[in-house]
Amino acid sequence: MTKKHENNWDNRYDKEQYHYGEEPNYFVKRELPALPKGRGLFLAEGEGRNIVFAAGLGHDVVAVDNSVVGKKKALGLAKQTGVEIEYRIEDLITGKWDSEKWDFVVLCFAHLPPQLMQEVHARVAGCLNPGGRVLLVSFAESQFGRDSGGPPSLDWLHDVGVLREEFVGVKWEKLEECEVELEESVGHIGAAMVIEGVGGI
Ligand SMILES: C[S@@+](CC[C@H](N)C(=O)[O-])C[C@H]1O[C@@H](n2cnc3c(N)ncnc32)[C@H](O)[C@@H]1O
Repeated sequence: MTKKHENNWDNRYDKEQYHYGEEPNYFVKRELPALPKGRGLFLAEGEGRNIVFAAGLGHDVVAVDNSVVGKKKALGLAKQTGVEIEYRIEDLITGKWDSEKWDFVVLCFAHLPPQLMQEVHARVAGCLNPGGRVLLVSFAESQFGRDSGGPPSLDWLHDVGVLREEFVGVKWEKLEECEVELEESVGHIGAAMVIEGVGGI
């Protein structure tokens, strides 16, 4: 079967419906309002549901993702919601997102092959302003085999102990695995094992 786009995320997103919905992720919706207004970076932001929510809270926000269809949909959602966002098409590995300083960084279901994931996580603390915050929600290894969402490879899934080592310089106030019920459009549906992290430098 021929694919329209080279990037598989573009193929997934290339439809009217938002694959993970237009509403923010449950964890971002719960945790982000507690952060003081600031400049926020959303890594692997996809179709924009979280960054648009953050912009609505008054934050100055930038998304980084390498999906051009994701960007188009995120800008559409921002326009429809009446907020301003900036969305950079960049690869998380080769991108220069850590050459600037941020008040907070959000990673919502950002999953890469393990070596690359480690490199991205290791760069987060260094791009935070003093007192900067990190919010993370991702699928846990215990999600492997469930069909409620997440990458199908065990080594792309996350482990609390490994995350603690990878986020060099981040102090976690909370970093724990739990089971949640996801209702995120067609992308994430059902009971899922996730890791929720709230930390900072
Ligand atoms: C599971 S989706 C999560 C999207 C969004 N955070 C959300 O929860 O709605 C993963 C995202 O990672 C992005 N992504 C994957 N590999 C990437 C890379 N190497 N560089 C930049 N973005 C990447 C994809 O384009 C996709 O939008």
